[in-house]
Amino acid sequence: MSKPKIGVIISSTRPTRFGDKPAQWIADHAKARGDFEVEILDLRDYALPLFDAPASDAWMPTPNAEAARWQAKLREFDGYIFVVAEYNRSITAVLKNAIDWAYTPFVRKAAAFVGYGSAGGARAIEHLRNIMVELQVAPVRQSVNIGGSDFFPLMMGQKNWDDVKGAFDGPAKDLLDNLAWWTNATRAARTADAAAKAA
Ligand SMILES: Cc1cc2nc3c(=O)[nH]c(=O)nc-3n(C[C@H](O)[C@H](O)[C@H](O)COP(=O)(O)O)c2cc1C
Repeated sequence: MSKPKIGVIISSTRPTRFGDKPAQWIADHAKARGDFEVEILDLRDYALPLFDAPASDAWMPTPNAEAARWQAKLREFDGYIFVVAEYNRSITAVLKNAIDWAYTPFVRKAAAFVGYGSAGGARAIEHLRNIMVELQVAPVRQSVNIGGSDFFPLMMGQKNWDDVKGAFDGPAKDLLDNLAWWTNATRAARTADAAAKAA
């Protein structure tokens, strides 16, 4: 059987964002294990309008070509790692909009979370977990939280990510071990469902 594919989604798009650094870092960790195929997904690459379809793709095919392209990309993956910026104690508007454009690609898959911010992105991650439940995604409990005394100097440019990232290797392993379990479990169940349907 092929390796499960994991999409690492960067949740912010502003030109000077921090999100690239933890995204590349967790993608490198995931690749180094050897049991996943890994790709970084950048919301900058999808010119999604603010959601304006008559209904969610849960209810009707999407009428927007760019959203259809985004959905097709998401469908390639068995699981996701969201790299979560915290804006006003929640996820970014650009990520929420991208999720609203793509219900069906996420259904019955797994997702894990790498957050950053004063509280390690924990408040945004908790919002995102709740959103994931509506999308029928299994949200992995273990997370990476880059916060407090680590994040503030990073945000102010007083420290480099490369100098502090080693402190998060343990949580990254824990996250990836558990993402592997849930991704493999949900993938096996989806495969069994498809086989039963085809029989
Ligand atoms: C609009 C906005 C709202 C923010 N709100 C929060 C917040 O509620 N909690 C927090 O920890 N950081 C907050 N921050 C600071 C971000 O954690 C920090 O700017 C981070 O670098 C944003 O991610 P990005 O660089 O990938 O865009 C906010 C930043 C912006 C731009």
